[in-house]
Amino acid sequence: MPKITFNDKTADVPDGENPYETFEKLGMNFSCFNGICGTCKMKVVNGMENFNSKTEEENDFPLEDDERLGCQCFKLNDDVEIEYDEW
Ligand code: FES
Repeated sequence: MPKITFNDKTADVPDGENPYETFEKLGMNFSCFNGICGTCKMKVVNGMENFNSKTEEENDFPLEDDERLGCQCFKLNDDVEIEYDEW
């Protein structure tokens, strides 16, 4: 079961759960859920390759190479480490 380390907390992503649901439990804020507002922008410190590819919405959003939008993370194959600052 993949693990998400999110700032100073860690949680497993249960089978059948989207990573963004785990991000929410760990304290991430969401607003639009459509890759538009950027509320869920996060830095991927380790494991970028373990997520689904960036979505069209993320490619349209001004993101650094090590950044993702949490609401656009639908799949996780292995452990990741995330840094997230609340807006
Ligand atoms: S919640 Fe708006 S971009 Fe993710």
